[in-house]
Amino acid sequence: MDILDLTGIDLSKEAPECEPERQFYFIAKARELLHEKEREAGRKLTFCVTTFGCQMNARDSEKLTGILEQIGYVEEENEEKADFVVFNTCTVRENANQRVYGRLGQLKRIKKKNPHMLIALCGCMMQEPEVVEKLKQSYRFVDLIFGTHNIFKFAELTVVCLESGRMVIDIWKDTDKIVENLPSERKFPFKSGVNIMFGCNNFCSYCIVPYVRGRERSRTPEAIIAEIEKLVADGVVEVMLLGQNVNSYGKTLDTPITFAQLLKRIEQIEGLQRIRFMTSHPKDLSDELIEVMAHSKKICRHLHLPVQSGSSRILQKMNRRYTKEQYLALVEKLKIAIPDISLTTDIIVGFPGETEEDFADTLDIVRKVRFDSAFTFIYSKRTGTPAAVMKEQVPEETVKKRFDRLLTEVQEIAKEVCSIHKGTVQTVLVESVNEQDPSLMTGRLSNNLLVHFPASSSVIGQLKEVKLTECKGFYYIGELV
Ligand code: SAH
Ligand code: SF4
Ligand code: F3S
Repeated sequence: MDILDLTGIDLSKEAPECEPERQFYFIAKARELLHEKEREAGRKLTFCVTTFGCQMNARDSEKLTGILEQIGYVEEENEEKADFVVFNTCTVRENANQRVYGRLGQLKRIKKKNPHMLIALCGCMMQEPEVVEKLKQSYRFVDLIFGTHNIFKFAELTVVCLESGRMVIDIWKDTDKIVENLPSERKFPFKSGVNIMFGCNNFCSYCIVPYVRGRERSRTPEAIIAEIEKLVADGVVEVMLLGQNVNSYGKTLDTPITFAQLLKRIEQIEGLQRIRFMTSHPKDLSDELIEVMAHSKKICRHLHLPVQSGSSRILQKMNRRYTKEQYLALVEKLKIAIPDISLTTDIIVGFPGETEEDFADTLDIVRKVRFDSAFTFIYSKRTGTPAAVMKEQVPEETVKKRFDRLLTEVQEIAKEVCSIHKGTVQTVLVESVNEQDPSLMTGRLSNNLLVHFPASSSVIGQLKEVKLTECKGFYYIGELV
């Protein structure tokens, strides 16, 4: 397949210049092209968007889905049966990349048999030049490659792809642009992620996100509130405000506003019942935010506060800009102001130079904070980050042993912390039918724990009072009251 590199090229003179109007023009155009393809195929054509990575990517995938549905593609859950497969990729750890290459290999075989099939790759992995180079060399059956900064151009790029029949590539290095009001299709009718900011300026020394997501940009409070009001009018009762570091929201806006002030304004939205947010960087968590959380009726009793390591020495090498003592003091303050708060975290094991003593500090902080749950990761070397070239990378065997020790500790504590709610009555948002037992519904507590209880599926999307009768380690069995 020929390659069409679009980076920096304006495609159509007749298309409107401003966004999102331009994309609506291309959605209409793609619809015509799709009709033609459907006539050839003698059937409706389908799509499947597969998401790797974090909630930001999940939200981006809802936008991709919205655009594809507007074009007229029909959703198909099995990617091997779909005519338009989109992989929205993640590159935060090496194994995320390996999964994408593995799945692509499988698709190659299927594409040979389906002449209508298109494969698009987007997301964080595509922002790495080595990845795009590899795809150009060894994955020539891919039709469309674009990045994180121009995801809003998906309709336009789809048109080029359908018209040219070539491999289309469009990757931007960075952007200061935020395109509002594109279509989006929610996974759940009753809850939704809402981006409040994009990018990250923190440059933690192990992390690739600032390189692939670009500089921090906040949406205006007006745009955020308008979006939430629209969601609420459409049946949403819970929003998850999304950003790599929500605590630094608003600092770069023309009229600066703090995250805490934004939360207060969102709290006023009538009909909205629950507010969640992630992720919070400990260094920017303000007293004002704790105060707002403590007094809020809608903000959930849950804070995801990634600690990454318990060793001040390692934290410094990670460029996290807080010490073990500062983190512990912050947790203390939070627990006093909001006694029922649930704290969860992320921890990396095996950062370059981590000694047994550093690791003991991580175990110690886990024991002192007593997290409700923790995501534990083995350090993964990301090309281009400062940590990748640090000497003293820890041997794999050592890391693996530490990882297992940490996991045991984290899980034992989480079980104990989880069990303290036994016998209480709590409000849950009913989210889905239980996968194993369809007579049970699954709901989420304010503190993010799940509870399974007998009920009919008609209560999905509603807030209900449930008695937590039995603790099963990391979740509850309950009954409606
Ligand atoms: N912005 C969020 C985190 C986004 S990435 C924050 O700062 O909290 C999610 C998690 O992936 C991080 O918290 C970190 O624990 C983990 N992570 C990031 N880079 C990693 C790497 N190179 N190796 C292993 N884990 C990593
Ligand atoms: Fe990565 Fe640090 Fe930014 Fe989080 S705050 S995305 S860990 S650089
Ligand atoms: Fe992965 Fe990108 Fe999120 S690298 S974790 S999908 S911001």
